[in-house]
Order: sequence, then C-alpha cells, then structure tokens
Amino acid sequence: MTTEVVRPAREAGQPLVPSREAGQPLVPSREAGQPLVPSREAGQPLVLGIESSCDETGVGIVSGHTLLANEVASSVEQHVRFGGVVPEVASRAHLQALVPAVRRACAKADVDLSELDAISVTAGPGLMGALVVGLAGAKALAAALGKPLYGLNHLAGHVAVDLLDHGPLPTPCVALLVSGGHTSLLRVGDIATDITEIGSTIDDAAGEAYDKVARVLGLSYPGGPVIDRVAADGDPRAIRFPRGLTSPRDLERHRFDFSFSGLKTAVARWVETCQQEGREVPLADVAASFQEAVCDVLSAKAVEACRHVGADHLLVGGGVAANSRLRALLAERTAAAGITLRTPRPALCTDNGAMMAVLGVEVVKAGGRPSPPDLGADSGLPVSRVLV
Ligand code: KG4
Ligand code: ZN
Repeated sequence: MTTEVVRPAREAGQPLVPSREAGQPLVPSREAGQPLVPSREAGQPLVLGIESSCDETGVGIVSGHTLLANEVASSVEQHVRFGGVVPEVASRAHLQALVPAVRRACAKADVDLSELDAISVTAGPGLMGALVVGLAGAKALAAALGKPLYGLNHLAGHVAVDLLDHGPLPTPCVALLVSGGHTSLLRVGDIATDITEIGSTIDDAAGEAYDKVARVLGLSYPGGPVIDRVAADGDPRAIRFPRGLTSPRDLERHRFDFSFSGLKTAVARWVETCQQEGREVPLADVAASFQEAVCDVLSAKAVEACRHVGADHLLVGGGVAANSRLRALLAERTAAAGITLRTPRPALCTDNGAMMAVLGVEVVKAGGRPSPPDLGADSGLPVSRVLV
C-alpha cells in the first residue's frame, strides 16, 4: 500500500507562505488576539508551587483549579548510568534548575511574582538534600515578596493534581498512589485536612520494583516505561509470578498493604534459571508476566479499598499511574464494581510543581495557617500531615 501525502492545492499566483498581515505583530500579544494562557479564575487564590523531592525540579502556577504553567526540569539523564537516583546529583541539579524554572513559569503564566497570593513547597516526604533546595528557594521567595509560605505533603500533592483535570473531588474517595518511592492506598475525606493511610507497601514501592526488574532484564532506567513497552509484545499468562500479600493468611493482617520484593526476587530467580539452562530469556513474556502480577494486586486491592471505605470514586496518581496495563485493568475492574476512575493526564502523574500549587490553593481556601519561617524538610513526613 502506498501512502499519499495530500497537500492543499495552491491557488495560481498565491505565494507558498501567506504574507503577514500589515500592522500585525509576529507573536500575538494578549490584547491582539486569543489569550496565550488560560484566564485566571476570579476570586480564587493564585499560587506558585515548588517541588524538589526527588529528581524533578517542578514549578507550577495555578489559579483556583486552572493550570497556568507547569515547568519541569528532570535530572533523570544524570542518574541513568547509576541505575537509580543519586541524591547528591539530584540536589545539585535542583540548585541549578530552580531559579530558571521559576522565571519560565512566570513568563508562561504571564504572572508577576508580586501578584501571587501564596507560595507552596514540598516539605516531605522525599530525599532530604533535594527537599532542602526547594524549601530554601521557596522561603527566600516568600520572604523577599512578603507572601505566605505553605510547606506541604508531596503525596497529598499527587492526589490534589487531579483537581486540575477533573474538578472537585467527591468525598470520601480512595486514592491509589503508585510511584518510585511510595505505594499506598489513602482515604481522602478532605484534600486539605483529612487524609488517612489505609495501606502501603511493606517493602519496595511499585515503581521501585519496575526499576529493579528492568535492571535484572538488562533494560534501561527508569524501568517502568521500558517494561510497559516491552510487555506489549509478551504474554501476561506465560509465567505465574507471585502476588504479594494476597493469601488468606496475609490478607488477615495486610488487607490493604502491598509487597513487591518477593516478586522482584522471583523474577530474578526465574531469569537466572533460564540462563543457567542455556535458554534465551523471553524478555517480552517475563516483562508482561511481571507487570500482570503488579497490576493485578494494585487494582484488586484498590477496588476492595473503595468498597471498604464506601467510596464510589477511585483516584490514581504517581509515576506508575502512567502504566498502560494498570490503567486498563483499573478501568475494567472499577467499571465492573460501579466505581468512577479518575486518573490525571500522564504528564501530571509524575512529579511536578503544579501538584503542589493546586494543593496550596486548597489549603489556602480551607483557611490553613502559613508555615513558620523556620519550616524544615521532613524526609519521612506521614501522609496524614498535609500542611507542616
Ligand atoms: O511519581 P514519580 O515520577 O516519582 C516518584 O515520586 O518516585 O514516579 C517514578 C516511577 C519510576 O519508578 C518509574 O519507573 C515509574 O514511576 N513509571 C512507570 C511508568 N512510567 C513511570 N512504571 C510503570 N509504567 C510506566 N509507564
Ligand atoms: Zn512523587
């Protein structure tokens, strides 16, 4: 089959590129035509959010639930050769990226810093050295501008970011947070004031399992997107890998908890045996079978948690929420259970500043008191503490 490129026929005598209209600027100004950025929500807080808990420097600007700018500078390339995030490298990258990201965000949002109502920043959990860079920057900005500062919880930010895509959250709802550092099920009564953990991983996070299994399979870091791609050509039923904490006995004590380190070891053993026997490792089948084990447990426990809480909405966030199989399985199982699934667009699932900005908006609206000037980073901040 041949592919034909269809171009609009040029009218005889017409130039290839239409000539500019006399008197019109090359880049349209806001007055001249359509606004370049979505308009701000009248009467709603205008908040700049800073995120630096891991390897992404994020600066977002949000008005109410309207996203005006979301600048993310990732240092992931600098960690690839180490097969994981190196804290010192991440901290230095934040230091270099933060101020330019603030400038770009303001330019994109067409916001002057003096117009902000508040500044919010990730106070934890995360890598200590990385957190303090964002925190120092946010404190300096807040002090110089005379604006209130809100030190906020990164995990609550992953939940709040969905407000930008789907509006207010019906509560209570259940949130499944799946990232490289965290895997938990949360009951959200109020995004600004009432989040309770109902389960979490007792060892590796789901994203961590993807990254470690990718290394076992000789695939690159970060492993999640690569395994997602490789698994597309494999048979998810080829190998029955263990589903952690799903036996009746485990469910008694760990109904809503997860465990992925046994799965990672099972994959490593399986690959080892295969190599010892001189057989070629069927990469796609191993990837698909591993992925099926992860997504099966995550989706089953998330739906069960909704039933337990009496929630008819399930929200999914964090880097692993971008996984195609997890999204498909969750869509299938929530539909069967009559639960509405909310998943932010993939670009908002991974770490960014907009999630901290919109959480800031919610905290301001809930009347949260600004954080003290000596606000410190807390690498192990519990999810129940939304505002520090
Ligand atoms: O939320 P995030 O950007 O950073 C943390 O807070 O950890 O999540 C990063 C994690 C990594 O482990 C990465 O492998 C995983 O998310 N990830 C994925 C996919 N995209 C990113 N895991 C599975 N499938 C994906 N498509
Ligand atoms: Zn995160």
